[in-house]
Amino acid sequence: MKPVRFLTGITTSGTPHLGNYVGSIRPAVRASLQHGVESFYFLADYHALIKIGDPNRVQRSTLEIAASWLAAGLDPQKVVFYRQSDIPEIPELTWFLTCVTGKGILNRAHAYKAMVDKNNASGIDPDSDVSAGLFMYPVLMGADILLFNADKVPVGRDQIQHIEMARDMASSFNHRYGEHFALPQAEIEATVATLPGLDGRKMSKSYDNTIPLFAPREQLKKLIAGIVTDSRAPGEAKATEGSALFDIYQAFASAEETAALRQAYAAGISWGDAKDLLFERIDREIAPMRQTYQRLMDHPEQVEALLLEGARKARAIATPLMITLRDAVGLRRLKQTTSASTTPEAKLAPACFKQYRETDGLFYFKLVSAKGDLLLQSLGFDSPKDAGQSIAFLRKSGVAGLATLEKNLVQVQDHLKPAIAEALASLQ
Ligand code: TRP
Repeated sequence: MKPVRFLTGITTSGTPHLGNYVGSIRPAVRASLQHGVESFYFLADYHALIKIGDPNRVQRSTLEIAASWLAAGLDPQKVVFYRQSDIPEIPELTWFLTCVTGKGILNRAHAYKAMVDKNNASGIDPDSDVSAGLFMYPVLMGADILLFNADKVPVGRDQIQHIEMARDMASSFNHRYGEHFALPQAEIEATVATLPGLDGRKMSKSYDNTIPLFAPREQLKKLIAGIVTDSRAPGEAKATEGSALFDIYQAFASAEETAALRQAYAAGISWGDAKDLLFERIDREIAPMRQTYQRLMDHPEQVEALLLEGARKARAIATPLMITLRDAVGLRRLKQTTSASTTPEAKLAPACFKQYRETDGLFYFKLVSAKGDLLLQSLGFDSPKDAGQSIAFLRKSGVAGLATLEKNLVQVQDHLKPAIAEALASLQ
């Protein structure tokens, strides 16, 4: 069976904290180890430019996030792990999608709308401080997803709308130019809790209540000491309900450990002792990773090499697809034959590829000569994209490419080879 392809991006706009670890890094690394899945995880640094104007911060965050994911056990052999800005096909596809996306759809995007609503509420210009980058954010995200034909996109609830928009873009493009894109689905992890921060609200950079994932031991201890509690004295029973300390503990502990802390709460454990327990429990999980993290932070060139290798793997998929898409939208070399094909009264239609779907559900193509003779016939492909890529390959490589595609073609008749060569040359 074809593996299910998961893809997700992490905006490089900050330092990973425990909330990111519990809510996204840890589940994503675990999911990537399952059988039958293919994972594409990338650093969304083009997205970071929408929010962050400080170049050093973008660079630093890219390193910190990459090092964090690797330290948390991401295996770059198993996962295609890359940096968005190493894939020039992404901005190119962004433009193609921009041209099939209604402006009205983007007007409704939450992040943009929230800014406009806020400006309206303050009685200032609705577009004040709204960059076109923020407005276009969902299209860039659509390109991230569609370029790799992802099946599932694991995201937080706030991102569901963006995945729906990516589906719209895929449909519009397919409608106009043929079936090139699969329709992605959002994957929401229901079991992953959001972690409370130091003040009890959701741990988030915007509340300034975070615990950095790889804070040194002493700092981790200090930060944990600062988690809000109530004023119950040692010996007094404590409530687990609404206790940020308890919720954070639970995110790291086994069921038995959690049950033990629940009992200790009832038995009146002091807040100081409870904080010590929490500190030791988190540190037990994080300490081994912290070492790897530090080693990677000290050797950015190692992280760089891994990311470039990831980009190479990603582009092995992106580049051929982009060749097909450029052709599909009409960005083509200028040749007499192509202009002739647009002239209805041309005496002879040029040789051409025909793509179609059979009742067996598979996708086929054939090459027909200018005179209408069948020159090449493909076998069935699982997706129109695969068929399209073979066509693009043949157009590029000419008759020399036949051998490579042998197993995808009905056996080629030797006497037709000169005609095939001529037809392919006319299409190059
Ligand atoms: N916008 C996402 C976020 O802020 C990050 C992101 C960028 C992304 N491109 C993506 C997530 C593609 C999933 C797929 O969380």
